[in-house]
Amino acid sequence: PARGSVKIVEVGARDGLQNEQGIVSTETKIELIERLSGAGLRHIEAGSFVSPKWVPQMADTPQIHTHLNRHPPTAPVPVTYSYLTPNMTGLTSYLSTPAPIPTTTNQQQHTSEIAIFASASEGFSKQNINCTIAESLGRFRPVVERAREQGIPVRGYVSMIIECPYDGPTPPAKVADVVEALLKMGCYEVSLGDTNGVGTPGTIGTLVNYLIKDRKLPAEKLAAHFHDTYGQAIVNCLVALEAGIRTFDSSVAGLGGCPYSKGATGNVATEDLVYFLEGTGVSTNVDLQKIVEIGDWISGVLGRRNDSKVGTALMAR
Ligand code: HMG
Ligand code: MG
Repeated sequence: PARGSVKIVEVGARDGLQNEQGIVSTETKIELIERLSGAGLRHIEAGSFVSPKWVPQMADTPQIHTHLNRHPPTAPVPVTYSYLTPNMTGLTSYLSTPAPIPTTTNQQQHTSEIAIFASASEGFSKQNINCTIAESLGRFRPVVERAREQGIPVRGYVSMIIECPYDGPTPPAKVADVVEALLKMGCYEVSLGDTNGVGTPGTIGTLVNYLIKDRKLPAEKLAAHFHDTYGQAIVNCLVALEAGIRTFDSSVAGLGGCPYSKGATGNVATEDLVYFLEGTGVSTNVDLQKIVEIGDWISGVLGRRNDSKVGTALMAR
C-alpha cells in the first residue's frame, strides 16, 4: 500500500458554497470553516475576492476574512486560509482586511494566502473571468508580484484540464503550458482542475504522466482538484497519487460546482477522500467522524442531498 502523508485542501466553503442557489449566511460559513479546522483540516479555502455581480454567493468574503483574522481558530493544528483573487481589485480588497491578531495559548497560529485561477481552455476563460488565457496571465502577474512582495504565498489553478463544455477536449500540452506559466510567475503550487468531472483514470493518467514525465513538472508542486460529476473522482485521485501527486482538493459532503460550468457538480467529498487515503495507508491527520458529522450538518442546513457516499454510510450506522 502507498505510505506517507498528503495535504488536503478543503474547498467546500468556496467551491461548494459559490454554487448554492440561495445565499448562505455569513454566520453559517464561519461556523462551517471553524468546524472544519476543528476536525484537523489545515488548509481551508474560505472565500473569493471576486465581483459580487458575477458571484453574489461570495460577496461576504471580506467579512469572513476579517472575522477569521480577528478570531484565530481553536483548532488542534495551525491553519492556512486561502482566498481567490482574480485581479488587483481582489488583491487590494484582500490586503485591506485587518491583520491577524496575535494568538493566545489555546488558539493556533494561522496564516492566509491567495489563489489565482486560469483555464486551459479559451471558452471557459471567457465565461469565467471574461478574458482570454493570455490576458488572464497578464493580469495575474502583478497580483503575484505584489503578493510575494508582502510575503503572501500564491496558489494557482488551471481549469478544464480534460474537456471544456465550450471548446471540447483539452490538449494536454495546453494544460502544461498554463501550469508552467503559473509556476514561473511564482505560484508555489498549481491545482489541476477537472472542473466538470469528466476525467477517467485513462485521461487523467495520460495527463498527469505527461505533465510529470514528459514535461518534467515537479509532482510536489501539483495538486489534484477533481470534481465528482461522473463518479470518477476517487479513482482519479488514486491515479494522481500513484503518479506522485500529494496534494488533494476536496469539499465536505461533496458540496460544489462552478457557476460558469453548466451541470458541473461538487468536488470529491472530503469524507470519501479521507476514507480512501487512510484505507490505502496514507495518513491525513483528519478526524473522519467529525468530517462526517459536519457533512451531515451542512447538508441539512442547505437542504441538499449529502453527496458523500462515506458520509451517508457512516451516518446510517
Ligand atoms: P469584468 O466585468 O471583466 O471586470 O469581470 P472589470 O474589471 O471590467 O470590472 C467590472 C466591475 O466589477 C467593476 O465594478 C469592478 O470594480 C468590479 P463597477 O464599476 O461595474 O461597479 N470588480 C470587482 N469587484 C470585486 N472584486 C473584484 C473585482 N474585479 C472587478 N475582484 C472578473 C472580471 C474577473 C472580476 C469577473 O469575471 C469575476 O469576478 N469572475 C469570477 C468568477 C468566479 O469566481 N468563478 C468561480 C471560481 S473559479 C472555479 O470555480 C474553478 C476552480 O474551482 C478550479 C476548477 O474546478 O477547475 C478554481
Ligand atoms: Mg472547482
